[in-house]
Formats: sequence, structure tokens, C-alpha cells
Amino acid sequence: MRWEGAASVQLCDGWYAAIYANKLRRDRPLALRRFGKDLVAWRDNDGRAVVMEDACPHRSAKLSLGKIQNNAVVCPFHGFEFGNDGRCTLVPETTKAAPNLRCNLIPSLERNGFIWLFHGEPGSMNSEPPWFDELNDRFPYSQLQSEWTCHITRCIENQLDYAHLPFVHTNTIGGDFDVTNQSIKFDLRADFIKLDLGTGFFCFKFPNIWMLEILPKKFYQFIAFVPVDENNTLILLRAYQSFVTVPGLRNILGAILKVQSSVILNQDKRVVLSQTPRNSLLADEEKLYRSDDGIAYFRQVWQEKSKSEFKSS
Ligand code: FES
Ligand SMILES: [Fe+2]
Repeated sequence: MRWEGAASVQLCDGWYAAIYANKLRRDRPLALRRFGKDLVAWRDNDGRAVVMEDACPHRSAKLSLGKIQNNAVVCPFHGFEFGNDGRCTLVPETTKAAPNLRCNLIPSLERNGFIWLFHGEPGSMNSEPPWFDELNDRFPYSQLQSEWTCHITRCIENQLDYAHLPFVHTNTIGGDFDVTNQSIKFDLRADFIKLDLGTGFFCFKFPNIWMLEILPKKFYQFIAFVPVDENNTLILLRAYQSFVTVPGLRNILGAILKVQSSVILNQDKRVVLSQTPRNSLLADEEKLYRSDDGIAYFRQVWQEKSKSEFKSS
């Protein structure tokens, strides 16, 4: 089924940072919605992430209502079990496996504390998701999650937009930002959009990660824009900092950064949720200015990289 009222909507192909890895358990299935589909995620005996469509191939009950047992997810309706390759490992009434009965698996990888899900044609799958070299394994972070009722394109564009800073963030981060500064110029590439702000830079990497450098090697903000469905996007935000190293103080600072980030994010959310149409690829009548060069380029590349339809189930 196509998206209601938005037949031309497409989602960029690629690996999406889609779930905080610490949400996945070995003892309990997790229900979630991504790419317009209901999914179930769990960990197998080796700790590997398994992500499947949340519908039992027997008679369509939600597997996420079941349990994990025998290295398989067990359907709550008639007890069929499905292993980490999606195949049925047990039909209780026959006491046998039924390998041809299988759940649809979503390609997944675990990297940098995220479960990444692939959207697109399998042939176009890169072996590795994108990342930022600045954020290595040893970098401590605090993280939060925010749910926005808008299309992913509007969320991403908001983070490419520097001209909103003094207006939306007057009393937080943007008060004295000079929007007339003509030296601000985007670096527009096939896989990323980068902007040097003078005091630091931000970079967006297709399809869904963004990073702001606040202090080189010491302080970064990171966002993954997660497509839930046509009208819902999850913002997974992390503050990475290495200037406080004492564990107790680090936790206190982490809590303060979380509060501060959520205040700033809510300032953005208020205006972004007011934009129509919700999907920016349908916003043909908008008049873009020089400061919107990153957004214009984003729209062009997103269209080009959207080979697969964004389907709901
Ligand atoms: S619906 Fe899942 S076992 Fe019957
Ligand atoms: Fe903002």
C-alpha cells in the first residue's frame, strides 16, 4: 500500500541508525515501528540483533507479544518458534521445524551503540553504515529520545538550517548568530553536507546522521533521524563529551546536557511541526535563499537516492 495522500513520497536508500542498541534484550522481544512497518527486535544466544516484520507467517499475530525461548521468538498465538534467520524452528502440533515458513528479516547491523537497519534494494547495500571518525569508541555520551509528528525530511532540514538560530534559539544557542555573514558556505558532496560555522562545524551524512562539533576532540552533539512512518520521526540525540573524566561528575554533566539539549530541541520542534506540507519533497512552492543552499541540495540528493518506495504495511 502506498502512503495515503502522498504517492510520490520516497525514502532515501541506505543504512539507518534506527534503535539505541541498549534497548535490545535476549529475554524479551521489542516492538517498534520503522520505515512504516511494525517490527520486532531481539537478540539471539550470541547477542546478535535480529529484526523481523512483526507478523507471524502462520496467522499474522504480533510476534512482539510473545517471548524468547530456544534461541527463537515464540508466537503468542499457537507457539510457533522462529530462529535468527527468520525460519520456523518448531510447529507445536507437528513437533517439527517448517523451514519454508519464514518471517521477513530486516537487514541489521550493530555499530557504535546503534542497531542500523537497511532500507532499499538488497543489491545497493553497502557493507558498512556511515559514521563520524571524531566519535570513537572511547568517547562517553549521554543520550535522549524525542518523538516528532512530522516527516523525516523536515527534521533533517532543520539541522541544515543556520538562519533559524537567532530566531528560534534566541535565549539559548543562537542569540548573537550573524545571519548576514557571507563567508558561511556549504560543502556539498555526494554522501554528506557540511557547514563551517567559524566556531565549529556541522555535518550531515546520508541517509540519517548529523554531528555538530562544539569543541574539537572534546564536545560533540549527534543526532540520528529515524523514520518511523510518513508522519512520525524519532530523534535520537547524543551529547558526546570528554572534558570531564571523573565518573560521578561525568554523570551529573550528562544529566545537565540532556536537559539543555531537550530545551533546545523543543524550541526547534515547535516551529518544525508547524510546517506544511509535512514532507518537504512536496514543498514545491517554497522560496529558498542562500542560507538554504544545504536544504536545496539535500532535497535534490534525497530524490536521487530514493530508488525504493517508502511503503507502509
Ligand atoms: S499466528 Fe503465530 S503461531 Fe499461529
Ligand atoms: Fe535549531
